[in-house]
Amino acid sequence: MFSLFKKKASSYSATLSPSGKVINVKKGENLLTAALYAGIKWPYKCRVGSCGTCKCKITGGKISPEIDFSYVLNFEEMNTGYALACQTVLKTDVKVTINLKK
Ligand code: FES
Repeated sequence: MFSLFKKKASSYSATLSPSGKVINVKKGENLLTAALYAGIKWPYKCRVGSCGTCKCKITGGKISPEIDFSYVLNFEEMNTGYALACQTVLKTDVKVTINLKK
């Protein structure tokens, strides 16, 4: 049946670099929670957007920050796509670079 309304996605995918793994992120769920649920050993500490440990770089797609990242990230990071995974909700499928060395 033809519909005039575009069906909205109930989840998005996040392709992680450098591993190439793809995780499913439910609409409204933050990126860190989805990654931990998928078994990714993503570095984190506070989970409330204050420590910066979960910092990652969004290299493709769109996100919605749940807080103002400027309290933790510097100006250069803000302008080059860095985000706090624990406070990031996806608006589209994304590509993300994470640093697992911490
Ligand atoms: S875990 Fe601390 S800012 Fe995300």
